[in-house]
Amino acid sequence: MSQAVADARSCNVGPVILLGPPGAGKGTQAKRIAESYGVPQISTGDILRANVAAGTDLGRKAKAIIERGELVPDSLVCDMVSARLVEPDSARGFILDGFPRTVAQAEWLDSFLESKVFENQPCSKLRPIVIDFAVDYNSLLRRLTGRRSCPTCGRIYNVYYQPPRVDETCDVDGTKLVTRKDDDEQVVSERLKEYERKTLPLIDYYRAKGRLRVIDGDRDMDAVTRDTLELLSNGNRL
Ligand code: AP5
Repeated sequence: MSQAVADARSCNVGPVILLGPPGAGKGTQAKRIAESYGVPQISTGDILRANVAAGTDLGRKAKAIIERGELVPDSLVCDMVSARLVEPDSARGFILDGFPRTVAQAEWLDSFLESKVFENQPCSKLRPIVIDFAVDYNSLLRRLTGRRSCPTCGRIYNVYYQPPRVDETCDVDGTKLVTRKDDDEQVVSERLKEYERKTLPLIDYYRAKGRLRVIDGDRDMDAVTRDTLELLSNGNRL
């Protein structure tokens, strides 16, 4: 383990929120930050997809909504996040990837972080830091339509930017890669519209609270990771 990773793992990173449109690189960067700090990546998209795959009640309610590229109702998502955040591995902090996504979810999160339920977590003393990854529309389209992922280990690839060594096969475990159903071009267009309608207002919400930091996400992955880790390690807590 490098000294930088060891240092990161010894401090409380607190709540980190990754904003940005579909394909901005939230999942890719969340995994890297989570690994550096030794805290969980909490991806609402991944949790919902796991529920769909397991055929739970929540999964049955969410399946068609996700496949249309729309957002799942706030109440379902907030209940799901609330159950995840009180797990002990979130105590030093967590990386929220894909949540909040509406102003109602952000207001719910603010009050949850201040609530009694959460107050025994050491990181609850820290206010969330919000990072928006800004990426050009055409890059988003290419990233989403080129994305592949490993159903076994969850590793994300991209046929244009980060191809596996062997076509359509995971480098780590040899599993055949899959394409997400909602990465179909028509659904992608709906997801981007839904982002503009419902998630974009969060930029103003967090800017008004003085918590927003914007990172140019339209560069190679390592450059984005470097800036993100630097921002977090600078004590850039507001
Ligand atoms: P979710 O899974 O959260 O999807 P999303 O927000 O649309 O984001 P993506 O996962 O598509 O993109 P990303 O920003 O994580 O990019 P990634 O790193 O993967 O949500 C799916 C659905 O679930 C929603 O549509 C909704 O229905 C529901 N849902 C989830 N959360 C919800 C909530 N809070 N409320 C209500 N409903 C909710 O990268 C994408 C591709 O680009 C990859 O191939 C990657 O390799 C590549 N890439 C990444 N970074 C770079 C880079 N710097 N340069 C080149 N390529 C890159």
